[in-house]
Amino acid sequence: MSVLVIGGGGREHAICHTLAKSPKVDKIYCLPGNAGIAQIAECHPIGAMDFDRILAFVADHPDIDLTVVAPDDPLAAGLVDLLQERGYRAFGPRAAAAIIEASKAFSKALMRKYGIPTADYREFGDYASLCAYLETAEYPLVVKADGLALGKGVVICQTREEGLQAARDMMVDKKFASAGNKVIVEEFMVGPEVSVLCFTDGKTVVPMVASQDHKRAFDNDQGLNTGGMGTFAPSKIYTPQLAAQVYDTIIVPTVEAMRSEGREFRGVLYFGLMLTDKGVRVLEYNARFGDPETQVVLPLLESDLYDIFQAVIDGTLDRCPIRWSDDACVCVILASGGYPQSYRKGVPIEIGQTDADIMLFHAGTAMQDGKLVTSGGRVIGVTARGKDIDAARDKAYRNVQNVRFDGMFYRSDIGIKR
Ligand code: AMP
Ligand code: GLY
Repeated sequence: MSVLVIGGGGREHAICHTLAKSPKVDKIYCLPGNAGIAQIAECHPIGAMDFDRILAFVADHPDIDLTVVAPDDPLAAGLVDLLQERGYRAFGPRAAAAIIEASKAFSKALMRKYGIPTADYREFGDYASLCAYLETAEYPLVVKADGLALGKGVVICQTREEGLQAARDMMVDKKFASAGNKVIVEEFMVGPEVSVLCFTDGKTVVPMVASQDHKRAFDNDQGLNTGGMGTFAPSKIYTPQLAAQVYDTIIVPTVEAMRSEGREFRGVLYFGLMLTDKGVRVLEYNARFGDPETQVVLPLLESDLYDIFQAVIDGTLDRCPIRWSDDACVCVILASGGYPQSYRKGVPIEIGQTDADIMLFHAGTAMQDGKLVTSGGRVIGVTARGKDIDAARDKAYRNVQNVRFDGMFYRSDIGIKR
């Protein structure tokens, strides 16, 4: 069987790497992929939002029996719907369910209606009432664009000026285009964050190993927010007792709420949780595998990912045993100097001899004149497994030394916080 994966970052590299272990998968295609993915999959330069060419590609390749849609944009825009309507098997939520990530107004209203714990909030559809509220509100608070904004649509505001600036950026200057047509203003919360990704076929829901991300650019959580500078799994603060409580009060109620709304969710549902002193709260939902969480979660999977994808599509997840290793995994992101703001692309990358079992998940790489070069802000995630976090971290950092490019930087404290 052949599998097609849509997307081209570190997450998709980890998905392809895991699918390649399945004895049932003979060949993997990836659109558009990247230079690392091209070592294990046949990549073609077709973007994840180029639906016409994706559909033509699937029609031209009858050996493809499963298409996995990994990124948020094509899910929200209904790529899975289009594939399924044409009779192809596709993994990922349909657009009606992917809205749980694509609209914060939707997800906040869902949580309010079904009593799922989250930050208190208000929704605004016009600039004047948003400003009137921000003039007199208490700070800090959080201003969020309703729609998909490449992870940049969340602004933590310490002062009224910052709040009004965020409102202007979103609703007047349209910094996030139509994603800012509605704005959510949320209570500011504090506490450690944990990411819990779950497989669900709309009825059965199976959490994966919990992980933690490091979002700021520099050590000790300094610098700007990024897409994620490194991850580790499992999370120690997400104890079995807490996991059981979250399963009963957040995870199952969310899956049931979506079904009650006629928006059955089949795919990976990602719960971004904050452990506040008032209890666990949902920060956000994603309708997909997280990036770079996937890079530390999937290497711990001991079952066949291809079988799991099929069971999710068929609604037979209750009969699909899913096993995890007791090991730990750490991923250190190597980024381009200047990221998350402006940075150079096309910088040559040198990779020396790494340990045999190290996983170099490429995020922003390309081949140029036969040479490996950078093509994004996050370039490679150096990922190691070990018997515990300390062992995995030591190994990851030892192997970071074998990768070099001009301007490369990384955090040296991934996996130290607990
Ligand atoms: P989101 O995309 O909604 O998860 O927000 C991105 C990041 O902003 C989160 O991972 C948190 O670090 C932070 N954040 C979001 N909402 C809040 C909140 N209500 N209070 C404090 N921090 C938040
Ligand atoms: N790491 C957060 C995300 O994938 O949205």
